[in-house]
Amino acid sequence: MTIHVDGLSAVRAGRTILHPTNLSLPQGSRIGLVGPSGSGKSTLCYALIDRLQAEGIAVAHVPQSPDEALDPLRTLAFHWRQAERALGIAPDPARKGDLFRALRLQGQSLNVRPWAWSRGMQQRFVIAVALLAQPALLILDEPTSALDPVIAAATLSLVEHHIAETGTTLLIVTHDLGLAAARAAHLMVMHEGRVVEQAATADLLARPVSSPAQSLVAHRNWAVLPC
Ligand SMILES: Nc1ncnc2c1ncn2[C@@H]1O[C@H](COP(=O)(O)OP(=O)(O)OP(=O)(O)O)[C@@H](O)[C@H]1O
Ligand SMILES: [Mg+2]
Repeated sequence: MTIHVDGLSAVRAGRTILHPTNLSLPQGSRIGLVGPSGSGKSTLCYALIDRLQAEGIAVAHVPQSPDEALDPLRTLAFHWRQAERALGIAPDPARKGDLFRALRLQGQSLNVRPWAWSRGMQQRFVIAVALLAQPALLILDEPTSALDPVIAAATLSLVEHHIAETGTTLLIVTHDLGLAAARAAHLMVMHEGRVVEQAATADLLARPVSSPAQSLVAHRNWAVLPC
């Protein structure tokens, strides 16, 4: 099932920060959303999540900062239980162990509050929670911003393996064109609250048409980035 949405938009404090946007995300596809800081990538994600939830379509979201996902007063074990309950999943220690091992979180106590873990560990914990579900769409907003390159690559490989099994569509948001180029088959470029260009990744990198895409391709040393 392709996810189609028309007319996504957002206005904050009287300013249009997302101009009317139509999206079409084929099932199982991996799409990169790139663009400079402040171009509206996260805003588009929130508008998309609101729309899909209103339509009853399951979407999992790993926000840009783990602070947005984790309550500082609750233990990580509490978050995990809540996620299982919300998803109607029976506790499955084997599955949890597999996920935590793959995300290199094994051996860590969950009976602590989030700030007892590093930000990179918190980010991977939130990714593990997202992988508990089998959503139609998984949105990762700057998923590797707190991870070192080796763990970032392993984490994204795990995510890809998981979504290949579940048929989940992946929207990966980043200002890191190297990451998007390596992980997404299709790219959308945002600039000042608009999607200004979309194309197959190889085509966009070889022949960017809009000036924001051209400057991203020209000014990022994307080919040598590690993940
Ligand atoms: N709640 C809000 N109120 C007012 N302005 C907002 C709000 N949320 C976002 N904006 C503005 O909208 C624009 C887009 O912000 P957004 O967070 O979507 O950008 P982004 O592309 O995700 O940037 P980054 O790469 O830094 O995460 C920015 O100018 C931001 O200041
Ligand atoms: Mg953002």
